[in-house]
Amino acid sequence: MAQWTSAVGAAQLARLLKSQQERPAGPGTRRPPAYRALADGVRLLVLEGRVPVAARLPAERELALALAVSRTTVAAAYEALRAEGFLESRRGAGSWTAVPAGNPLPARGLEPLPPETLGSMIDLGCAALPAPEPWLTRSVQGALVELPPYAHTHGDYPAGLPALRAMLAERYTARGIPTMPEQIMVTTGAMGAIDAICHLFAGRGERIAVESPSYANILQLMREAGARLVPVAMAEGLAGWDMDRWRQVLRDAAPRLAYVVADFHNPTGALAGEDQRRGLVDAARSAGTVLVVDETMSELHLDDGLEMPRPVCGFDPAGSTVITVGSASKAFWAGMRIGWVRAAPDVIRSLVAARAYADLGTPVLEQLAVNWLLSTGGWEQAVDIRRDQARENRDALVAAVRRELPRWEFSVPRGGLTLWVRTGGLSGSRLAEVGERVGVRVPSGPRFGVDGAFEGYVRLPFTVGGAVADEAAARLAAAARLVETGASGGDDGPRTFVA
Ligand SMILES: Cc1ncc(COP(=O)(O)O)c(C=O)c1O
Repeated sequence: MAQWTSAVGAAQLARLLKSQQERPAGPGTRRPPAYRALADGVRLLVLEGRVPVAARLPAERELALALAVSRTTVAAAYEALRAEGFLESRRGAGSWTAVPAGNPLPARGLEPLPPETLGSMIDLGCAALPAPEPWLTRSVQGALVELPPYAHTHGDYPAGLPALRAMLAERYTARGIPTMPEQIMVTTGAMGAIDAICHLFAGRGERIAVESPSYANILQLMREAGARLVPVAMAEGLAGWDMDRWRQVLRDAAPRLAYVVADFHNPTGALAGEDQRRGLVDAARSAGTVLVVDETMSELHLDDGLEMPRPVCGFDPAGSTVITVGSASKAFWAGMRIGWVRAAPDVIRSLVAARAYADLGTPVLEQLAVNWLLSTGGWEQAVDIRRDQARENRDALVAAVRRELPRWEFSVPRGGLTLWVRTGGLSGSRLAEVGERVGVRVPSGPRFGVDGAFEGYVRLPFTVGGAVADEAAARLAAAARLVETGASGGDDGPRTFVA
């Protein structure tokens, strides 16, 4: 059997290589021989996830024709890629992309640090904001009033409190997605929801298609569950989901699950349009893949007049293809640890049954607090505060980074909490390392990639504003200078990743 899970055609690869040449090169770049430039181009496309790992490359002759170079050049480039571990070939099966064993594979997601331990460090590690007071205090007070009848029970509600399940179902119904309480399970954050879904559907060795890049901690959760991640590259900027690519990967790899963040994707901030949503559902349905849609960011639309598209599950009226995950973490406060799943009743029953051997349930008091917010209208007011904070922070951060780091490139998203930044050819891993020394903690791109991709990126969250955003950008610029000049001390790895 072939080792590849998707294929990239000669014309498509030529187009991708061409768009790459139009980008500014990293510092200190010299013009390499043609075969080397081609090998580096392909290597970069793989590392950035724009050509997935395990994608079959065109035959040498076809690519030579599409690029108008000699077949010898392509053969030498493929040979170089093979020697470096970026290509594997087998007679009769062709050549497919790979990543070398020694590549800086991300072994970690993002680890939040206790705020008390940070000192003067500016923490850009987590995309989560402080509670939108006074609503946290009010909701907990409201929960305490509601608590007495529950105090007489054993307190284990594996599916969630009936009142909160009914309230969440009502909210989907109000969004135009008729939903019964039996279709809802309350979980311990979106992480708890996706963990439960992975355990139910995707056992060890099972394939899961993921956006490339994607949210670091979900990728890590899936890796630890033993899944084989099949990356599907996000299109440039905020264009998001390339439906040809998704259709191809889902058809060729037939993964058990596909995981997408269609609303203000983490980290790129892209928002899927209705055609993309419909396309994702159709492609998943045809491939027999369950589409897990993470709506954690969906309420964080930051720009006036932005019309939110229909939820992805709205394109799956039979309810057999899409599982939706929601969370109070971004719209309200991550410290609540409240998330939920919306799925067909039989899926919910299976998830609930499996929960007896996982965390048994979600804390009652926090469920009551979220239910209080949703039933009093406090939720909308809290989310408004949250949006104002995120918008101000986004605008301050964007202005500060443009001023301090004019060579860094990004597209400003219309919502969510993250800016995905190309660092002008500097190594994101080195920036993260040196950043810690100059007082700014920032996650490097490879944490959001499947196989060491995105070395030339960092993710910046909308969690600081005003003077702190200015200072964060100034520290990032100091780190960039140290990385660029090689004056950062310590064991200097490669400074630039663009050859
Ligand atoms: C897309 C996405 N999903 C899930 C999570 C985690 O959510 P929770 O705190 O509800 O577990 C995050 C947090 O950053 C996220 O960005």
